[in-house]
Amino acid sequence: MIYIKNLADHEDQDVTLKGWVYNYRSSKNLYFLELRDGTGICQCVVSREDVAENVWQAADSLRQESSLEVTGRIVKDERSIGGYEMHVSDIRVHQIAEDYPITPKEHGVDFLMENRHLWLRSQRQWAAMRVRNEIIWAIHRFFQERDFVQMDAPIFTGNAAEGTTTLFETEYFDEKAYLTQSGQLYGEAMAMAHGLIYTFGPTFRAEKSKTRRHLTEFWMVEPEMAYYDLEMNMDLAENFIKAIVGQVLDRRSRELDILERDTAALESVVNNEFPRISYSEAVETLKSDETAALLEQMTEDRKQEYGELEKEREEIRKERGSAKKWRKAQIDERIREIAERMDQIEEDLRNIPTWKESALNFEWGTDFGGSDETILMMQYETPIIVHRYPAEIKAFYMKRDPEDVDLALACDVLAPEGYGEIIGGSEREDDLETLKKRIEEHELPEDLFNWYLDLRRYGSVPHSGFGLGLERTVAWLCGLDHVRETIPFPRMLGRLRP
Ligand code: 4AD
Ligand code: MG
Repeated sequence: MIYIKNLADHEDQDVTLKGWVYNYRSSKNLYFLELRDGTGICQCVVSREDVAENVWQAADSLRQESSLEVTGRIVKDERSIGGYEMHVSDIRVHQIAEDYPITPKEHGVDFLMENRHLWLRSQRQWAAMRVRNEIIWAIHRFFQERDFVQMDAPIFTGNAAEGTTTLFETEYFDEKAYLTQSGQLYGEAMAMAHGLIYTFGPTFRAEKSKTRRHLTEFWMVEPEMAYYDLEMNMDLAENFIKAIVGQVLDRRSRELDILERDTAALESVVNNEFPRISYSEAVETLKSDETAALLEQMTEDRKQEYGELEKEREEIRKERGSAKKWRKAQIDERIREIAERMDQIEEDLRNIPTWKESALNFEWGTDFGGSDETILMMQYETPIIVHRYPAEIKAFYMKRDPEDVDLALACDVLAPEGYGEIIGGSEREDDLETLKKRIEEHELPEDLFNWYLDLRRYGSVPHSGFGLGLERTVAWLCGLDHVRETIPFPRMLGRLRP
């Protein structure tokens, strides 16, 4: 098989490409077909003079998303979408598509979500999935190169890992079971067998809130390391994120370009140290005068961005009139994105006064909300690591800070540009009696955690780990406003189909 991404190797050769009609346009004697084959798009030109009548008729019968094989000569053409085009000699139609619902015009996001199974074919969605795939590879590569063993945690579980409020309950013959919220507790058992491990799988949270950061089913990668303390955990998390971002920049520049991602912001992630601040320092920052001033600035910036978006929209709408079809489709997706971003800005502008209020009156001991994270991150270009949270607001398994027992040795990584928490992690409690006490304090059923307590009975060691949310990472690297476009078939409140 010859794929469009490799056309450079086939210049001046006759080849057959197999794919779908992305777009088409015809005149009396010329037919321009934009063929997509999953690896790219190639313009195929049919000239009535040069082909048999039945080939011309076949071309003329094509509709958007019809499937076909096209044969012809590959020629270099700078102006063409992938740098090459095909001069067609033959066409073999597989199926003439019915009227395709996603036409080159503006669609609302609800309509697109209903048609997610088809929407995946469009360019921006295609690019986002390629970036997702690259991130998955980067994750495996990072850990495999460091001799971490990938082990799979179960999906059916008998106990909660991350609090009992977001559990999906299901039947397991005549017992209750829960869909896993995190592979961590199992990961700890695996780390005691292999030293360095990671789990990578789907996790589930019955999140009742509709936010742009929450899914009910999302993928999480969770390394767990025997003999790692909090410091080593944070070092690993930082190197891990840099490796992922670096690999995506290296290998997916084309996709980032389609997504119109500002890559300078990502370059700075690779090249700079991530600031590490304690929770208490973060709270002070939130309540500072600088924050109040930055919020004023933010209001101005948002207003300016809004104006720029309006201008861009006007310009590309003008361009649209005479644009090629592939460009039209690109413009339409961009227009949709602009509309979403403008909605978001309008909402932000309505919210900023409340955010300001909540930041300035933030009480030590409570958890950061999404807006607090956004505000805190206004001061940073790279991710930051916030460590030593009040133990009260963190999970039962986290080790307390020996210097201050009210603090948990936790570390969260917050992404810049408003993407929020992408990593949550900690050093784990390794003392049997203390852990028993925590389980009791959290009103968890001790008998269900007996196996977990065994890890502290038989060769307990200091150990640490963290979990990175894949979809939030994809959203951040692609510059997408909502996690619903970061996974092929998102599951969230109110969305179970398709
Ligand atoms: O902070 P969380 O809840 O941490 C854990 O589950 C730990 N057991 C991880 C560990 O130490 N092994 O979740 C970790 C990450 C978050 O930082 C976020 O990126 C992602 O998982 N996440 C979600 N992503 C999408 N939708 C949701 N509802 C998410 N909840 C968490
Ligand atoms: Mg968390």
